[in-house]
Amino acid sequence: MTLDLGRYDQVWRAAEPYMRARKNDVHIPLSFDWAVRLLEHFPQADADICLLAILLHDIGWWAIDMEEIIEQGFRSENILQSDVRYRHEAEGVRLGTEVLRQTGWSEEVIRQVCEIIDGHDTRPDPRHLNDRIVRDADKLWRYDVPGTAIGCDWFGETPAQNCDRNERILPKFETEPGRAMAIAALAATRKALKVHVL
Ligand SMILES: [Fe+2]
Ligand SMILES: [Fe+2]
Repeated sequence: MTLDLGRYDQVWRAAEPYMRARKNDVHIPLSFDWAVRLLEHFPQADADICLLAILLHDIGWWAIDMEEIIEQGFRSENILQSDVRYRHEAEGVRLGTEVLRQTGWSEEVIRQVCEIIDGHDTRPDPRHLNDRIVRDADKLWRYDVPGTAIGCDWFGETPAQNCDRNERILPKFETEPGRAMAIAALAATRKALKVHVL
């Protein structure tokens, strides 16, 4: 399957102002790329819905203060159900709808993309394959060296601790190809960052 990735350029441009928060200008392109790789395993998934959803899922962080993000979003007791998590999803639906309307996508596409964005972190169970692919792409970027480096800052951890955290998240993967890619990336990152000594 060859995807025409240029068809999303307008969306990238329209979303760009909202990506300068919470390292989303690194997270989103990397996770987008993981979604493209996952889609190769799932030709039955809807590529437009998955790719637009991963592209826009976190732009709602733009509307939230960075200190609040770190305090509540990463270092509180229950990070996945914290208030900022719900707010970034709701803001993501609002801003994502604006961006998709502005770039000419149909109301049906907007509905399906927003259904994934709304609850992508806080809903316990994914709804369908497109949702599951987005969730795995959202996690996979953390396993490479850049995501690990950023994770260390966010969680206040060493690379070895962050790799251990990522290992504990492996059971949460929704697809087998996603988990296999995460395991391979984690091994490569541990080797590259010499976590056996550092
Ligand atoms: Fe999120
Ligand atoms: Fe994300």
